[in-house]
Amino acid sequence: MRTLIANGTIVTAADTTPADVLIEGEAVTLIGRDLAKVAGKVDRTIDAKGRYLLPGGIDVHTHLDMPFGGSTSADDFESGTVAAACGGTTTVVDFAIQPQGGTLAEGLAQWHQKAEGKAAIDYGFHMIVRQVTAATLAEMDRLVKHEGVTSFKLFTAYPGVFMVDDASIFKALQKTGENGGLICMHAENGGVIDVLVAQALAAGHTEPRWHGLTRPARLEAEATNRVIALAEVAHVPVYIVHLSASEALLEVREARDRGVAAFAETCPQYLFLSHENYEEPGFEGAKYVMSPPLRPKGNERGLWQGLRQDDLQLVATDHCPFCMKDQKELGRNDFSKIPNGAPGLETRMSLLWDGGVRQKQLSLQRFVQLVSAAPAKMFGLYPKKGTIAVGSDADIVVFDPEKKQTLSAKSLHMKVDYNPYEGRTVQGVPETVLSRGEVVYEGGRYVGKKGRGRFLRRAAREE
Ligand code: URP
Ligand code: ZN
Ligand code: ZN
Repeated sequence: MRTLIANGTIVTAADTTPADVLIEGEAVTLIGRDLAKVAGKVDRTIDAKGRYLLPGGIDVHTHLDMPFGGSTSADDFESGTVAAACGGTTTVVDFAIQPQGGTLAEGLAQWHQKAEGKAAIDYGFHMIVRQVTAATLAEMDRLVKHEGVTSFKLFTAYPGVFMVDDASIFKALQKTGENGGLICMHAENGGVIDVLVAQALAAGHTEPRWHGLTRPARLEAEATNRVIALAEVAHVPVYIVHLSASEALLEVREARDRGVAAFAETCPQYLFLSHENYEEPGFEGAKYVMSPPLRPKGNERGLWQGLRQDDLQLVATDHCPFCMKDQKELGRNDFSKIPNGAPGLETRMSLLWDGGVRQKQLSLQRFVQLVSAAPAKMFGLYPKKGTIAVGSDADIVVFDPEKKQTLSAKSLHMKVDYNPYEGRTVQGVPETVLSRGEVVYEGGRYVGKKGRGRFLRRAAREE
């Protein structure tokens, strides 16, 4: 299959260039002006006049088909990756989970089973580690060297579910010093949060807003400081996931200013929503129950500054949707029983374009860096993914910067019965999306095949 995308403007993390793109098979083979004159016979020409050509989005933080909080996240690998494609994301890196008392290999096999035959776009896996034993540490080597799983998530939160102690975190960090993996940290002080939650419930506070009130920013900052200190002593990089509080960002910035290899992502919900959402009437605040929680209005200003200054390296979604009906409802009488998480996979690109590029918070280059190039580089996918260049996978978003879309659960493709941004209008949406040279989204519909997505073996860090 030979496809010519003509008359568009290519945006990468480095440049903005008016140029045509020739795709042969799955890869980009030629970039230049007036390629119709030299390309020979093509099967399809896409006219991209007035459109930007962006490298496909890469979302490195998703939870598809994930058992959590007494429920399972509402999007599986089919619905989640279809929604991703419709929103301009052509790669996801999802979190496989070590079963309680089981091995990393078992967790990985489970996740391959969940994805195979279902994924509509390419995907990779991180591995959540919940017990750090000598055997687990040996398995980490195997995952990095032989399985293409080169990053691991550990938690200082969710005692009894995912939380591990500092010694375990330290051992896992040291292991990545040997094998080139990367430790991703959920940084909140879970032990103290559990005390605050018990005290709030004992005082009769059961409403969703108490989720936010029992997870103070200071406890995110404390845990962020702690895990960075552990990484510093282990002499390895560390990556903080879903950073929400500007207090936590200060810890990352301070470390980076001292030359420590501390990295962090934030998510659209922390840029566009706030603690005020928990105050919505009735049980509506449950829509926004996620961890870390939404922060008070004004907090987002620090995050935007962090994104501009590279104290925050990228934007992922932490997509972990639970329906209001039957799922969030589990916590109607007790906020601590509301499954933690919210949908975001399909709306990341447009929200960040609209609130970032259009509001002059981000340049075109920085936008592409945050949603595609930096995720690819951080997690061992570059330059196959994350750019538009000769030899790269033809994962390309033909993006219409003028078109508006009003976000609504009814028209979005995520399999969840609400949207946190319901009724919000964004300007700037994907028009056509290609994944490895195949058009998978056009005319407002997913047009690819389920199961066409491929597992991506990611590279380890090079020293
Ligand atoms: O509330 C959240 N973030 N749910 C997903 C699990 C996690 O901690 O990332
Ligand atoms: Zn987390
Ligand atoms: Zn998460």
